[in-house]
Amino acid sequence: MSSPLPEFPAGFTWGVSTSAYQIEGATSEDGRGPSIWDSFTHRPGTVVDGSTGDVACDHYHRYAEDVALLAGLGVGAYRFSIAWPRIQPDGTGPANPGGLGFYDRLVDGLLDRGIDPVATLFHWDLPQALEDKGGWLTRDTAGRFADYAALVAGRLGDRVKLWITLNEPFVHMSYGYGLGLHAPGRQYLFDAFPVAHHQLLGHGLAVTALRALTGSPIGITNNYTPVRVQGVTDADRAAGATYHALHNRLFTDPILGHGYPEIPGTDPSIVHPGDLDTIAAPIDALGVNYYNPTGVRAPSDPDSPLPFDLVPLDAYPTTSFGWPVDPDGLHELLTGLRREYGDRLPPIHITEGGCSYDDTLDAHGRCHDPQRVAYLDGHLRALHRAMTDGVDVRGYYVWSLLDNFEWAEGYTKRFGLVHVDFDTLTRTPKTSYAWFRDTVTGPA
Ligand code: FCB
Repeated sequence: MSSPLPEFPAGFTWGVSTSAYQIEGATSEDGRGPSIWDSFTHRPGTVVDGSTGDVACDHYHRYAEDVALLAGLGVGAYRFSIAWPRIQPDGTGPANPGGLGFYDRLVDGLLDRGIDPVATLFHWDLPQALEDKGGWLTRDTAGRFADYAALVAGRLGDRVKLWITLNEPFVHMSYGYGLGLHAPGRQYLFDAFPVAHHQLLGHGLAVTALRALTGSPIGITNNYTPVRVQGVTDADRAAGATYHALHNRLFTDPILGHGYPEIPGTDPSIVHPGDLDTIAAPIDALGVNYYNPTGVRAPSDPDSPLPFDLVPLDAYPTTSFGWPVDPDGLHELLTGLRREYGDRLPPIHITEGGCSYDDTLDAHGRCHDPQRVAYLDGHLRALHRAMTDGVDVRGYYVWSLLDNFEWAEGYTKRFGLVHVDFDTLTRTPKTSYAWFRDTVTGPA
């Protein structure tokens, strides 16, 4: 932080990210149907502080105030997600005008302030009615997703500047259907593989549907992690390779036309002829979310249901989430993507990066978060190095604009550039907000 940040190219996009269930609240207003996250959070024992997204940041009612905060930040783009159950309360059928109307107002509000709307179509809040029919374990959900994408693009296709089909399908599969830590709370371990295939199929079908309705670039957002093998045996290295295939390659190889990586325990029979072509529909952008590297070694228990153990990386400082802070990991993963996929790699947009700390207001009502400033400073330098080393990166979006509902962690993890008091819903920009504003807008 001692020296000024290196200069990013003209046209580089600075932004911030949020997602619908984490900020909107108003879960039964204007015709919104229930999502799997409503059902999950209302089940006791699923969220550490027993909270739900029923109110969250109340963004649904306070979006104008939040758009003003974005304008004050000086960002060129805002990535938000659209709640599928607002658009199709039961996951099928015609669009609900109340739901579309909300995003219409949000998009126009952003454009009025010169901020590019970046829309994610699926950030994990599947309509509960579709989950009742099997959710992403069912092939039909892929087609439903493409129908929904078309309804949204039919209304917003002229104004959204970048479309992201899915957010982190790996996390949705593994946490939601593999381990049961997220909605819908299923624990199928490797039998959750159909969730990967059907999300990918839904992505491919949606890309094709969107193409007909928008001239804006289309992509997908994946979560990537550099794998740090913690051990010296062949078995440790093999465990590392398996984890890399599962976390980093499963949702990238098929999209970039390489088919599926080999992953022990998965059943390829659900892949129909032609599916891989559908999934490989050309995209214009790869969204990369990076938070931390992952330590992996061979399972210590021979009866382990998983072919690897995930182990803490003790050599790094950690955030309040316990996530290791390693800016070099961002450089490593970006240059690794370039090496692995070469010219097939579309331009990259860092659609999320950020950290949680126990931010509080001081006696003067200010929120000082120097650790977040240091985190972002370090990661932007690492990003710049990767770009100098030839990786085509077009933008960086901080997770998140606001402290919000952090899934199974409830309101106990604060990722915002803006502090939110969850009793009063008062927003207070943190030190990092001012720092990011100065980064975005250049020296005064
Ligand atoms: C990512 C999610 C996002 C948020 C951050 C902290 O995995 O996409 O919704 O929870 O982690």
